[in-house]
Amino acid sequence: MKEQNKDVKYWLEKARKEKFAIGAFNAANIETFKAIVGAARKLLAPVIIEASHGEVGFVGGENLVDLVENAREELGLPIFTNLDHAPTVEDALAGIDQGFKMIHFNGSKLSFGENMEKTREVVRVAHKKEATVEAEIDAIVGTSTIHRGTVEEEQKKGNYTDPEEAALFVEKTGIDILAAFVGNVHGVYSTSPKLDIERLKEIGELSDVFLSLHGGSGIEVDQVKKAIKAGIVKVNVNSEMRIAYRKTLEEVLKKNKEVAIYKIMPEVIKTVQEVVEKKIKLFGSNEKV
Ligand code: G3H
Repeated sequence: MKEQNKDVKYWLEKARKEKFAIGAFNAANIETFKAIVGAARKLLAPVIIEASHGEVGFVGGENLVDLVENAREELGLPIFTNLDHAPTVEDALAGIDQGFKMIHFNGSKLSFGENMEKTREVVRVAHKKEATVEAEIDAIVGTSTIHRGTVEEEQKKGNYTDPEEAALFVEKTGIDILAAFVGNVHGVYSTSPKLDIERLKEIGELSDVFLSLHGGSGIEVDQVKKAIKAGIVKVNVNSEMRIAYRKTLEEVLKKNKEVAIYKIMPEVIKTVQEVVEKKIKLFGSNEKV
């Protein structure tokens, strides 16, 4: 089988061995989808196209899965779909039915025991359909937008993942990917986060699981590189794309009175694509296909 046709586990394993990370980029509409695919195509990179609960409600899970399947077929690139932060077991199972190949079940608001039980249920169903499951024990705090305060204030609201607890959770649930909280927060702030790299290494040493880094916007280059060296194989990015989208759209609308959407949007897509390209290069996943 050609390498580009292999499943996401193959690519995560490859990333782990070769010390790069696969970017997981949120697609909220056709423009952001095109920006991600455009970047993957230009840089010959494996990518994960994901949608949060809100984004799935907006764009439609099956629609997104079909768009990705079409692009995979047309371009022959390893492009995967991830249901990002499904808040309930029902949402996670609906995502499996819609055809997502990666399911992130976020049970971090539940007690440890309940989270473990519900995650195990998602794993049972997902693995039958050859979909991977990502889970989290400790909430990744913040939201994917621009925040006024410092990142340190936000970090204090989170509970840093305990490596031994993580190992137990991974063993009991059989998840494929763990989203640990090591100081990474959603959104961009007036300061950049310092990550607990030692904790990340310890989590990786104690658990046989792929590690993802959420909150990929606003983290300094050196921190991202250290995190990948410590075992991160998937980095989620949303806010920086959202910000680029909105800023460019405002500028385009200000400078001309065009009403044809297909004429307005190329500049927006270009700017969002530039964000994605920058991240792909930072993650070292370019030229891997
Ligand atoms: O799952 C989505 C990401 O973790 C997005 O984080 O908005 O900070 O890039 P971000």
